[in-house]
Amino acid sequence: MLSTLIYRSRPSQLADAPFLAALADHARQRNEPVQVTGILLFDGDHFFQILEGPYAAVNAVYARICDDGRHQQIVELMRDYAPARRFGKLGMEVFDMRGCPPEEVLPQILARSTLQPRAGDEDRVVRFIRAFASGRWRQSLPGHDAEHALRLVTRPAPFQPGAAAPSQPCRFALQPIVDTTHQRVSALEALIRAPDGGSPAAYFASLSDEAQYAADLEAKVYAFQLAQQIGIGDSMISVNLQPMSLVKVPDAVPELVRAVTQSGLVPSQVIVEITESEFITHFDAFEAAIRQLRAAGFSLAMDDFGAGYAGLSLLARFQPDKIKIDRAIISGVHRSGARQAIVRAILACCSALEIAVVAEGVEEAEEWRWLAAAGIHTFQGYLFARPALEQVAPITWPLLGE
Ligand SMILES: Cc1cc2nc3c(=O)[nH]c(=O)nc-3n(C[C@H](O)[C@H](O)[C@H](O)COP(=O)(O)O)c2cc1C
Repeated sequence: MLSTLIYRSRPSQLADAPFLAALADHARQRNEPVQVTGILLFDGDHFFQILEGPYAAVNAVYARICDDGRHQQIVELMRDYAPARRFGKLGMEVFDMRGCPPEEVLPQILARSTLQPRAGDEDRVVRFIRAFASGRWRQSLPGHDAEHALRLVTRPAPFQPGAAAPSQPCRFALQPIVDTTHQRVSALEALIRAPDGGSPAAYFASLSDEAQYAADLEAKVYAFQLAQQIGIGDSMISVNLQPMSLVKVPDAVPELVRAVTQSGLVPSQVIVEITESEFITHFDAFEAAIRQLRAAGFSLAMDDFGAGYAGLSLLARFQPDKIKIDRAIISGVHRSGARQAIVRAILACCSALEIAVVAEGVEEAEEWRWLAAAGIHTFQGYLFARPALEQVAPITWPLLGE
């Protein structure tokens, strides 16, 4: 199957004419035997390369290219399949856009292609070429933070360890949600665990539906007690809640308020997290409960945003205080043009609606660097701290310096 891959990158060394010529020569030699063709554009500070060929061969070439230290900030822009090659004649040609009059760039690139005249008008590949040639894609580049060295510094969390009573039906692991701009803990998420510290799935599965809802609410009592034990102070505590618990358990919201105040907390420091898919499937049923939660002063966060089938249209129906972008979108964001476009769309939308954004599941420092440059301040993930039973693990802070 003929596949197409486009990526963009920046040279990490001087890319003069001899360098480009040597690169093209070597690429041609390596590509021809495996039937990979394409074109490499260079605009003076960015490469833009199209690779076409058999699926496995394109992947193998791209894997080598990604490991090449002579360029950096490699962002995959497109992966697709096609009936015919666009640049079939060439093993790999380099087109240096410098010195070419701007209005000549696109015609010259297209003149090197094997596309039928006009055949490319609606072609995404041609649209990508046009965007690169015009330079308008630069609007979507994050700031210059990518140039700065990144250090990771680990410090103890500003909380004391707590403990679970032996009689508790469940326990909690705490994971910090961090504001890396101000280097402070924005909130702690309380993640439910079985009494042995493992996943609580078996415990919940052993209960009837009705009992599950009651247990879901009751568990929050222990989460709030733990928050008090560790000395949460003014920080926020985030708890997950099944929306149907609010509908099925009588007086669920007043019960929740009672549990909060008994632990010396106030509802305004509690964030109730509800997953995106639950918002969709149970929206009508728990709309009243949402109103009660808001009226009692709780914050609402939409969890796992982007993981399900809801998408941005959900925000037309309901606007929470906060959304947590799912790891499915965050993972590898610095390498993926598609993920970057989605994150930017979510940010633009949330900014217009004054909804705070948390990036969840951040594991790599480079993911954080891209997200922070794009304007996200709050993060959660293994990069900063893993969940720890009844305590907050030391927190790793990414710092940008010269
Ligand atoms: C911008 C850029 C484009 C490249 N394009 C190709 C290519 O099309 N095909 C290829 O085999 N190597 C390409 N390379 C080189 C690979 O990254 C890698 O160095 C090379 O494939 C290793 O070849 P070797 O195993 O013969 O040393 C490119 C490198 C850069 C920096």
